Amino acid sequence: MASKKFLSYALFPVFLCLSTFNPTKAQNSQKLPFYNDNETPKSPISIIYQAEIISVDDIYLMHLSIGTPPVDIFGSVDTGSDCTWTQCEPCPELDCFKQEPPLFDPKKSSTYNSISCSSSQCAVVTSNCSEGDCSYSFLYGRGAYASFSSGNLATETLTFNSTSGLPVEMPNVIFGCGHKNLASPTSDSKQTGIIGLGPGNSSLISQMGTSIAGKFSYCLPDQGSSKINFGGIVAGAGVVSTPLIIRDHYYLSLEAISVGNQRLEFVSSSTGNIFVDTGVLRTLLPLEYHSNLKSVMSNMIKAQPVKGVGAEPGFSDVLCYNISSQPKFPEVTIHFRGADVKLSPSNLFRNISDEIMCSAFRGGNANIVYGRIMQINFLIGYDIEQAMVSFKPSRCTNY
Ligand SMILES: *[C@@H]1O[C@H](CO)[C@@H](O)[C@H](O)[C@H]1NC(C)=O
Ligand SMILES: *[C@@H]1O[C@H](CO)[C@@H](O)[C@H](O)[C@H]1NC(C)=O
Ligand SMILES: *[C@@H]1O[C@H](CO)[C@@H](O)[C@H](O)[C@H]1NC(C)=O
Ligand SMILES: *[C@@H]1O[C@H](CO)[C@@H](O)[C@H](O)[C@H]1NC(C)=O
Ligand SMILES: *[C@@H]1O[C@H](CO)[C@@H](O)[C@H](O)[C@H]1NC(C)=O
Repeated sequence: MASKKFLSYALFPVFLCLSTFNPTKAQNSQKLPFYNDNETPKSPISIIYQAEIISVDDIYLMHLSIGTPPVDIFGSVDTGSDCTWTQCEPCPELDCFKQEPPLFDPKKSSTYNSISCSSSQCAVVTSNCSEGDCSYSFLYGRGAYASFSSGNLATETLTFNSTSGLPVEMPNVIFGCGHKNLASPTSDSKQTGIIGLGPGNSSLISQMGTSIAGKFSYCLPDQGSSKINFGGIVAGAGVVSTPLIIRDHYYLSLEAISVGNQRLEFVSSSTGNIFVDTGVLRTLLPLEYHSNLKSVMSNMIKAQPVKGVGAEPGFSDVLCYNISSQPKFPEVTIHFRGADVKLSPSNLFRNISDEIMCSAFRGGNANIVYGRIMQINFLIGYDIEQAMVSFKPSRCTNY
C-alpha cells in the first residue's frame, strides 16, 4: 500500500503540446468584458480573475466553469504544460476515466465552437485533421504512469470568479474536448482534466494575454481550498523575488541549498537551471547533487532512515523515516538568485503512509524541477512582464 502510493508519485510529464512563448500576441484577441481597447493595462489591474483551488490527496485541482450554460470542471493545476482539456461527451466508458462531476457535453453548450483544420488556431498545438475538424492528442508521463487525452480542439467560454464579486466570462478559449482519455494513477475522482498554465501559446496564461498583464499567482494549501489569481501582483512583508526566464517552461536560477548551517553550492549555477512545475510532486535534482544533499540531511537528523521504500527506476532513493522515530528536521533554505526561500518541515517531508515519511527531494538524470510539495503554503506570483517570480510565506487556506 505504502509503496504503491509512493510509486504513483513518479508521474513525469512529457509534453507534445508545447509551443513557443509569445507574450505580446495572445491567441485570444477577443475583447474581454471589463477591458477597454484603448487602455494599456498596468499592474495591479483593477479586476482580478479568480478560481478555487482544491487540495485532494497531494493533487491540486482548479475549479472553473465552461460553456453556456456553465458546467463545472476540475483540472489539475499544471504550470509544467500548456494545454487545457476536459473529458467530453460522448465518452464511452472504456475510452474515458470515471469522473464524479457530470461530463461536459458540447452539444448542450451554445458557445462551443469546433476549430477547423485550416484555422491558425489549429496550429497552436500538435494537431491532426479529422473530418475537417482539428484534433489533438496530448501525452503525459511514461510507462505505467502515462496518461493522455485525445479529442477535438475547440473554443469555449470559461467563467471565473473575480475580485469584483461577480463572475467574469472569457470567450473563445482554446481547449481540448477529450473523447478518449486515460487518467494518471494519481488522479482523483473529482478530476475532469488538466489546466495548462505554462508559458506556451496554447496555455491559459498566454490566452488571457494582456487582460491579466502577464501576472498570475497561486497558493497551494496543505489541505482544503484556496485561490488562484489571474492579474495582480504579490507584495507585502516577507516577499522575495527572483528573475524568471521563459523558455518552454518557467525557469528560475538555483544557486545553492542550505541545510542547517551547511550551504551546498548547486552544480551548475547557470541562469535558468530549474523550472517550476506544479505537475510534479517532488523537487528533482541531479543524481550526484541529490546524493550529497541526502547525506548531509541524514547526518543532521538523529533518526535511522528507512531503506528501500523510495526506490524507483530512473531515480535515486529518497530519504525516508519511520514516523514513530520522530525525526527532527534541520532548517532548509532554497537559494534562488536574489531570493532565499526558507522551507517549513511540511515542505521537506511528506507522509507516504501511516508509518513512513519521505523527503520532498529526489535525484534523477532528466529535468531539474521545483516540485509542488516545496510550493505549499507560499503565495507564488509570476510576473511575465517584469520577468520575476515572487514567493511569500502564507497560510494558503486563508486565501
Ligand atoms: C506562437 O504564436 C506566434 C504568434 O501568434 C507564432 O508566430 C508562433 O509561430 C507560435 N508558435 C508556435 C510554436 O506555434
Ligand atoms: C466562486 O466562488 C464561490 C464562493 O467562494 C465558490 O463556491 C465557487 O466554487 C467559485 N467558483 C469557481 C469557478 O472557482
Ligand atoms: C495523428 O494521426 C496519426 C495517425 O492516426 C497518429 O499516429 C498521430 O499520433 C496523430 N498525432 C496527433 C498529434 O494527434
Ligand atoms: C515503524 O516503527 C514501528 C514502531 O517501532 C514499527 O512497529 C513498524 O514496523 C515500523 N515500520 C516500518 C515500515 O519500518
Ligand atoms: C503524518 O503522520 C503523522 C502520524 O500519523 C501525523 O501526526 C501527521 O499529522 C501526518 N502529517 C501530515 C502532513 O499528514
